[in-house]
Amino acid sequence: MTTKLSLSEVTLDVNGETVSGHVEARTSLADFLRDDLDLTGTHLGCEHGVCGACTVEMDGQPVRACITLARACEGRSVRTIEGGDDDPLMAALQDAFMEFHGLQCGFCTPGMLVACRDIILRHRALTDEQIRIALGGNICRCTGYVGIVNAVRSVFERRHELLAGDQTLVAPPVQPDWGDAKLATFKRTAGQMEAVEAAPSDGAGGDDQTLREAITVNKPVDEVWAFLSDVERVVPCVPGARLLSVNGNELDVEMEISLGAIRARFRGTGRYHFDDDTRKGRMEGEGRDARSGSSAGGGLDFAVIGDESGKRCRIEFVASYSVTGPLSQFSRGGLVKSFVGALAGMFADNVQSVLSGGQVSRGGGSGLSVVRLTLNVIKSWFQSLFRRE
Ligand code: FES
Ligand code: FES
Repeated sequence: MTTKLSLSEVTLDVNGETVSGHVEARTSLADFLRDDLDLTGTHLGCEHGVCGACTVEMDGQPVRACITLARACEGRSVRTIEGGDDDPLMAALQDAFMEFHGLQCGFCTPGMLVACRDIILRHRALTDEQIRIALGGNICRCTGYVGIVNAVRSVFERRHELLAGDQTLVAPPVQPDWGDAKLATFKRTAGQMEAVEAAPSDGAGGDDQTLREAITVNKPVDEVWAFLSDVERVVPCVPGARLLSVNGNELDVEMEISLGAIRARFRGTGRYHFDDDTRKGRMEGEGRDARSGSSAGGGLDFAVIGDESGKRCRIEFVASYSVTGPLSQFSRGGLVKSFVGALAGMFADNVQSVLSGGQVSRGGGSGLSVVRLTLNVIKSWFQSLFRRE
């Protein structure tokens, strides 16, 4: 039997050059960089978003290339380790890694360097403990981290001198400290949803994020809307999510996530509102993981829009999510977004599968095994997605 592959064209900027390629729906950015562009400096370790070996920079933020879909990078700007040749900060980091013995086998090093550069740019002050926590998403099996921490500290102390006169490098906003993120809220404009920044969070160390996504489903708009407005059918499409009860427009949902050896189960309540006339809806909610004491919450606005053929439609959604407590330390802006993006892709595939009479994929095993990364994010996302959020 012959299997017919469906390829999508994607065009993006990689290390300052515009590149195009044809990718499968599930081709990762890492595979695209390595196999199509021969940029093999981006390494693949776990391929689950945990080890950080594949970390690259996208639109100025670090992301996991192994769980970032290549097709989602349309129009984005990506910088790999090969693109750091003219970057004085990256050059200083590479020298420091050699001077302080911050590498042995070198497998983790490209992703580690990308993450370290981001850490230095984002902070006004850095203790050794903060460096270690900030590097919690990058695993090294050789060095013991002492050399890496020393290397980062030495470059951080010289950062002003290294960045002097280079406006492109000082451009990224340096954050005064963690927990200073802003929670997005939503305002409606005619025919579309728009995310806007709201007041700062309570500063309790949380990590607030927003995400915009759109998926195309090969089904008529009425059929898709009927499905999306049925929470008992939609929630199981979210890997790791379980609908416990529905009471009116209120939900009780559980979201199980695993990140390596770390497991968390967020349970919370949510609310939803659907407008059949405009085919728009909103879900919001909040939950807590009893074991870690972390909390997550968020909201999701979505709209279903039919195309001219009447055979397909587009689902657009904007989500906000926020995590506070111990688990929030695993969450870093760009990494979280790439992770959530992978979840969104799995959700989209499940929706498509169910609408076509197929089965839901749980992502492998119990809980959320495929996408095991930032617990906070996931939860937040799901809470946003289904219980509400
Ligand atoms: Fe491990 Fe991507 S390969 S996080
Ligand atoms: Fe070998 Fe980090 S230097 S894994």
